[in-house]
Amino acid sequence: MSRVVEQYNRACNSLAGGVSSSTRVNQAIGHAMLFDRAEGCRVWDLDGREYIDLCCSHGATLLGHGDVRIRAAVERTLARGAACSYENELHAELGELLCETVPCLERVRFTGAGTEATMHCIRLARAFTGRTKLVRFEGNFHGYHDQVMWAAEGELGQVDPRLAPISTGVTPGIDQHLIQIPYNRPDLLQQVFEQHGNEIAAVICEAVYYNAGCVLPTDEFAAAMRRLATEHGTLLIFDEILSAFRMCAGGAQEYLGVTPDLCTIGKSVGGGYPISVFGGREEIMRRLMPEGDCQHSGTYNGHPIPVAAAGAAIRAFREPAFYPHIHAISERLSSGMTKLFEKHDVPGRIQALGARFGIYFGIDHEVRDYADAKKHDCDMMLRFIAAAIENGVYFHDYGGGAVHHGFCAAMQEADVDEALNRLDVAIATLG
Ligand SMILES: Cc1ncc(COP(=O)(O)O)c(C=O)c1O
Repeated sequence: MSRVVEQYNRACNSLAGGVSSSTRVNQAIGHAMLFDRAEGCRVWDLDGREYIDLCCSHGATLLGHGDVRIRAAVERTLARGAACSYENELHAELGELLCETVPCLERVRFTGAGTEATMHCIRLARAFTGRTKLVRFEGNFHGYHDQVMWAAEGELGQVDPRLAPISTGVTPGIDQHLIQIPYNRPDLLQQVFEQHGNEIAAVICEAVYYNAGCVLPTDEFAAAMRRLATEHGTLLIFDEILSAFRMCAGGAQEYLGVTPDLCTIGKSVGGGYPISVFGGREEIMRRLMPEGDCQHSGTYNGHPIPVAAAGAAIRAFREPAFYPHIHAISERLSSGMTKLFEKHDVPGRIQALGARFGIYFGIDHEVRDYADAKKHDCDMMLRFIAAAIENGVYFHDYGGGAVHHGFCAAMQEADVDEALNRLDVAIATLG
């Protein structure tokens, strides 16, 4: 038996479902993939099989696995004892780097997972405005806490539909504070503000909607969010857990030229180590204790190892050659995959921006929202991913919805060409 399967079966005897995170089971292969080691854009499983990684730690790996700059920063911190739950000069250094790099940031706080960042950001927005309602967009993903684990009960595409929790165990009734509308519909956003403007604490949005693959906001939609929020005294939160640093150093807000009041940043910021950030206008951030009255604390907040790693990561993202390289690789990979789909007469469509991309099977037009993305052929996606893995390219499928994929900066042109050669064989099996 393969060692991957053997060790996964072993894990099932002590870890619930055999994993540390429910979505870590890759639905295309029916179990979690267990990796032995990783370097640059490649990973090796417990059986010694090598893959080019186009999942990239679900977005956490943007530089590459085992990046030497991150490793050096971590080792320096380990050598100092890595005392946690205390502050040191690296926290201020990281705060300064973030505030210099990301447009909306005047003050920041560090936290663990992206889930915590969105949770604290929403609490802060409610504390600052004294309002409770939260506008969210259909399908946008904001983590696993009770405030956001809701989806339309009936058909997609409705304005302010009845919501149902996405998981059992979610606190009932929270949905009374949520208003959901479809993505990319400035007209519906306007309508909701006309009805509820003075009750809305915040609008939270995936400013580039990577959780549905790669869906871009229209200029009108992005501008309407900013304008309506300002007009109604509502805070605009960009959830950049996935989009930060992906296409330019200032993230989706720099790319779109729209500055939110608050934002969350996660995944790539830690260079593969666990840290997330939330922050924004100084006036709002001053509401946090000890200056203000809104709580945000945690034993492991700002652990010195991820803080050191994040500082090294942001310095790497700010190097002049970083984004030209990302965009060149993105173009080569996207156009190469598109040609392979054409060659094998497979109805695949790529939407890409920076280092992440979506693949949509069976959709022949630009995907603009969640309802569109949901129409993709899930079965073909599962078969594609299984065939890609079989041929040495690692993708992940979370099951059901559209999925996002990505590459890291360690990927060079030759790696792209090798991935495309492997995918040529994989895609040939789909017809
Ligand atoms: C946009 C967005 N927000 C929040 C989260 C939650 O982050 P985490 O998984 O680190 O809790 C994610 C995770 O994929 C995300 O993509």
